[in-house]
Amino acid sequence: MPQHEQPPITAAPRRAVVTGSAGFIGSHLAHALVQAGTTVIGVDRRDSSTDPTAAANLAALRGLPGYHHVTADLLHCAIDPLLIEADAVFHLAGIPGVRPSWGPQFGDYLASNVLATHRVLEACTRISVPRLVVASSSSVYGPTDGGASLEADRPKPASPYAVTKLAEEQLCLAYAERPIGPSVVALRYFTVYGPRQRADMFTHRALQAALTGQPLRLYGDGHQRRDFTYIDDVVAATIAAAVVPTAQGAINVGGGSNASLLDVINIATSLTGRDIQLHQDHARNGDVLLTRADPSRAREVLGWQPRVDLHRGLRAHMQALAAQVPDYSRAA
Ligand code: NAD
Ligand code: UGA
Repeated sequence: MPQHEQPPITAAPRRAVVTGSAGFIGSHLAHALVQAGTTVIGVDRRDSSTDPTAAANLAALRGLPGYHHVTADLLHCAIDPLLIEADAVFHLAGIPGVRPSWGPQFGDYLASNVLATHRVLEACTRISVPRLVVASSSSVYGPTDGGASLEADRPKPASPYAVTKLAEEQLCLAYAERPIGPSVVALRYFTVYGPRQRADMFTHRALQAALTGQPLRLYGDGHQRRDFTYIDDVVAATIAAAVVPTAQGAINVGGGSNASLLDVINIATSLTGRDIQLHQDHARNGDVLLTRADPSRAREVLGWQPRVDLHRGLRAHMQALAAQVPDYSRAA
């Protein structure tokens, strides 16, 4: 096996539920699970008959015999019937994104990230689901002193979104302390990128700008750094979190490629051979200058490490974008 690939997935739950399956990470996870032989029930409130992003995300899952899709809002739907005989629930449904969380949508963040999670936890407890894997976020750490963030560090969330993600993971971990609840692994994902990444995220926008010549809005000076984590690495960690019996608690999923936004711009430029026109804008509230994962716990507990470096990951991401839009392919 080449050093830059995740080993093939050899252990996966027999039956699983993926919430947020019409989303970026959820759709990749559901697909990898089905490929590994898992029967998957995917739940998402976005309706793929009216929402083109959901339709594109679900395209590869359509018609696969191991995949069953339910369009439903976890805030209101009957969750229990979906969980019967599930070995694991992967709870990825939620409202992501740091910057819009300061606006009037905060109620939606709270409802989907905290209240819907509470409903999922109650249902998991009633149906005796043995393992819940929940999507937490690097944003729970807030501003750092430049060192790598450890799971034991005191969280200092710096945006309303981050506050809801911390509340979500802590709620799950509180349920896990009860003798009757599921065991819980809260994965703190660090800025995930790759094919079908959300259109509000930076790497998508930088690659799109490089492919189309449209300007890229840069918030701040571009020196802010992220642990950019490739989607296939994230999926591998997420499946491991469901099957390693001893796994529990918060675990960082990041640490592969620490780079600045300007580094991403340079790679996007070199991949396409086209300069990016930058529109400089002010730094956004709650946007931290640096995220950096200490990946030791993921290595020790899950046997996981990130494999895909930024250059290779961005090339795959760019090729997927170029294939979507015919005009892009001439530039790619
Ligand atoms: P996404 O928006 O593409 O996917 C989330 C999905 O959840 C959407 O399809 C949405 O319709 C669904 N959803 C939201 N509320 C729902 C509800 N009440 N009922 C049913 N479905 C609902 O986002 P993503 O980037 O794939 O992120 C997935 C998860 O990972 C989120 O919880 C996010 O906070 C977390 N996360 C993402 C990143 C990242 O870099 N993308 C990093 C850290 C954490
Ligand atoms: C990302 C996800 O959007 C969150 O949902 C997730 O929780 C978080 O990662 C995480 O790691 O936990 P973020 O790191 O802010 O959040 O990722 P981007 O949205 O891609 O933004 C990265 C940087 O690019 C930020 O500094 C942002 O201000 C900047 N940016 C973004 C721009 O300069 N221009 C844009 O058009 C978009």
